[in-house]
Amino acid sequence: MKTKVFFNIAELLTMAGGLKKKGRLTKVEDLGLVRKAALIVQQGRVLWVGSQNQLPRSLKKLSIQSRNIHEIDLDQQMVLPGFVECHTHLLFAGDRRDDFEKRNQGIKYQQIAQEGGGIQSTVRATRKASLQSLFQSAQGRVHEFVRQGVTTLEVKSGYGLDFKNEMKLLKAATKLSGPRVVSTFLGPHALPPEFKTHDDYLDELIHKVLPVVAKKKWAQRLDIFVEPGYFSGEHLKKWAQAAHACGMDLVAHVDQLSTSGGSVLAVRLGAKSLDHAVHLNAEEIITVARSEATVVLLPSADFYLQESYPEARKLIEQGARVALATDFNPGTSPTQDLSFIGVLARLQMKMSLAEVLMAYTLNGAWALGLENEVGVLAPGYQCDFLCLTGDWRDLFYQVGYHPVAQVYRQGTRIFRKHAN
Ligand code: NIG
Ligand code: FE
Repeated sequence: MKTKVFFNIAELLTMAGGLKKKGRLTKVEDLGLVRKAALIVQQGRVLWVGSQNQLPRSLKKLSIQSRNIHEIDLDQQMVLPGFVECHTHLLFAGDRRDDFEKRNQGIKYQQIAQEGGGIQSTVRATRKASLQSLFQSAQGRVHEFVRQGVTTLEVKSGYGLDFKNEMKLLKAATKLSGPRVVSTFLGPHALPPEFKTHDDYLDELIHKVLPVVAKKKWAQRLDIFVEPGYFSGEHLKKWAQAAHACGMDLVAHVDQLSTSGGSVLAVRLGAKSLDHAVHLNAEEIITVARSEATVVLLPSADFYLQESYPEARKLIEQGARVALATDFNPGTSPTQDLSFIGVLARLQMKMSLAEVLMAYTLNGAWALGLENEVGVLAPGYQCDFLCLTGDWRDLFYQVGYHPVAQVYRQGTRIFRKHAN
């Protein structure tokens, strides 16, 4: 198999500084800027990355013969690790236009849900949809992420809420192609109409659905929506136990709409990521920041719900590893636009550009337990990267600006922008 050498890269960001600091307290230096860079790839992984004038020496040192090399000229483009979009609900049918209109009249998310809208209305539409149509719409959404530079993508179930329909969603996820897909089973997303209590529904999930999901390996992680009116701390504990028993990672939607102590409890239960984490008090911020969990902030949900934003600055300054994601779903976050997320993070949560870049690469990988695989361009890592036509300093600045010319996954191109 040929070794690929990518050269003529104007600037390359490795993000390697984040590894030593475990994705915490990111500074510009941690982006690992290399000017006039080159990249050697073997079997989809980075073998070497560095300054182009070191390239001949490195090839010699690695005993790579010129006849075994496939050279790729990146034509002065800038390169950075592929984005890791670590929280989406992209498997759904229907829309939530009515919810949007109602919320805009001042009706709250929870009230809309009680009146049969909200998650339940997406569940009705999703249950009616065939696996094929769900797969097709999801694949189109996946492509929308890829063209923005996403090479690792998390997708959740959670709009089926019964055995047949949750399996349908997870099966659709196995068929998605393009980026690396990480599937998450979000059975405890809301109470389905067939059940009277959350306790009974969770028991059904743990005893009937989860064993099959685990056996088929259709999900790597378990998620739960911890919120008054949805699932409680006690439910979170049971779900954590179930995750542990079947060797899956636990993640949780916590403290999104109100303070429920979910984040701290999830930390104690060994959760990999705490998602949303909007309503935390000072003590909780410290506990969460010093934990091993990654805090996944989803500012577009706060934007669409017109609620307050998480205390990103305090979290970061206390040492939290912070990731960002779209939370793409038809209800609380009907957007797939990474530039919008980054702009919200910078303007509403006062994150620096360096923090946003780390959040969308290495820290996203960390949230998914893939910090040794993706999110960094360093030897041994998957060679997932994007090439920009513009300057990386212009990212997350102009909403809707996506200067992504090409996207590579494991050293192979998965997207190329057509010339106008
Ligand atoms: O992350 N909070 C729970 N889940 C989604 C919303 C789902 C929906 O409203 O359809 C979220 O915001
Ligand atoms: Fe979510």
